[in-house]
Amino acid sequence: MVNEIRPAEGKLGILLIGLGAVSTTFIAGVERVRKGLSKPYGSLTQMQTIRLGRRDENRTPMIKDFVPLADLKDIEFAAWDIFEDDAYQAAKKAGVLSEKDLEEVKGFMQKIKPMKAIFDQKFVKNIEGPNIKKAHTKMELAEQVREDIRKFKEDKDLNRIVCVWCGSTEVYMEDRPVYDGLDAFEKGLKGNDPDISPSMIYAYACIKEGVPFAHGAPHMAVDIPALVELAKKENVPISGKDFKTGQTLMKTIIAPGIKARMIGVKGWFSTNILGNRDGLVLDDAGSFRSKEITKKSALDYIFQPDKYPDLYKDAYHKVRINYYPPKGDDKEGWDHIDIFGWLGYPMQIKVNFLCKDSILAAPIVLDLALFMDLAQRAGLKGIQEWLSFYFKAPMHAPTVYPEHDLFIQQMKLKNMLRHLMGEELITHLGTEYYE
Ligand SMILES: NC(=O)c1ccc[n+]([C@@H]2O[C@H](COP(=O)([O-])OP(=O)(O)OC[C@H]3O[C@@H](n4cnc5c(N)ncnc54)[C@H](O)[C@@H]3O)[C@@H](O)[C@H]2O)c1
Repeated sequence: MVNEIRPAEGKLGILLIGLGAVSTTFIAGVERVRKGLSKPYGSLTQMQTIRLGRRDENRTPMIKDFVPLADLKDIEFAAWDIFEDDAYQAAKKAGVLSEKDLEEVKGFMQKIKPMKAIFDQKFVKNIEGPNIKKAHTKMELAEQVREDIRKFKEDKDLNRIVCVWCGSTEVYMEDRPVYDGLDAFEKGLKGNDPDISPSMIYAYACIKEGVPFAHGAPHMAVDIPALVELAKKENVPISGKDFKTGQTLMKTIIAPGIKARMIGVKGWFSTNILGNRDGLVLDDAGSFRSKEITKKSALDYIFQPDKYPDLYKDAYHKVRINYYPPKGDDKEGWDHIDIFGWLGYPMQIKVNFLCKDSILAAPIVLDLALFMDLAQRAGLKGIQEWLSFYFKAPMHAPTVYPEHDLFIQQMKLKNMLRHLMGEELITHLGTEYYE
């Protein structure tokens, strides 16, 4: 074993910021799986195997039997939200799961009542709620969150905690001097700097409490230099950002295939309609801008137009999200892709994906929580690039570009697990079978 990995003893607390569609679908799902009522489809930690050694050794254990992950039965949940609805009420309003599926876990869900949130309408315009913390400074708000974390740990007798941002998307922010270093950031917290957002305060508080933080939305939060610095200093793993579900998942499945065959792209138009609260928040131009940027960046990195100008330099890429209430959480996306092949002859691909956003996101939350906990027990700190697989805009070192290709991301993730457990990395060279 390369790193000594502490065992997953005792209970793991999962803290969720935001108790909306994704969080409640995740919590209800874990409870249903624990009760043997449903299967955790979509989750690598629960369902996928990993090949070890040569192909003729036939060693392919389940990931959960290979690396020491927390068991689902040892998980406790807590959440913050600006609304007072418990997890059951919030799940009903989100309208993702059926009445029957929710009724069977109703008692459990009702016990999860959201803690008071940090909220500032400057950062999320289209909603407001009553369940909000009050303080004189942003540092005091961070202290209150730290107190919530300690209380959760004590009340539930937890051994470890991880946090996943499942709250609304905040507005797009440019780099600011207050984000650049920890000293400036802490001064900003004490001085109520207007550019420090609620999500940054949560992330700061979590890292200070030694709680790994995974960022599921596209806005700037734990990815600012000050918090990356803090995570390294406090030996805490962080990862982000923006869960890779729906249309972007499809893009990062299709685009690497097109590129692998050196097929050119003239244009890629993506549009979708959705009607949940996330859609309402994204109806605001500032929040949409955060999303647009993470959604658009994937194709550029996959196609590498600078290296393949003939094929991709002029590719026109447009992304639209439209709030349309009747759709609820059942998003519908359309991709129209103009491609060209041999001698420049044009062709088209059309994708019409009728997906359920939160159904795709919930297993990501579970895997991230379990892998972030593993990372911490393995002594990993700072940005966890091996978890890029789960994100639309993977956090990465400043010296490298992010890896967006889903298949490279998957290889990276599995090789990291092999590396942690002292197993040989798999290169797929395969000459050994023909010697
Ligand atoms: N569902 C997906 O496929 C998917 C994919 C990628 C990213 N995301 C992101 O995940 C997040 C959650 O998505 P959702 O569909 O559950 O949205 P949602 O609107 O149903 O839930 C978000 C919840 O966060 C709460 N909230 C907002 N600001 C908060 C704050 N400062 N503190 C605490 N709570 C706060 C809201 O009240 C709401 O209940 C969104 O940012 C979304 O963009 C979702």
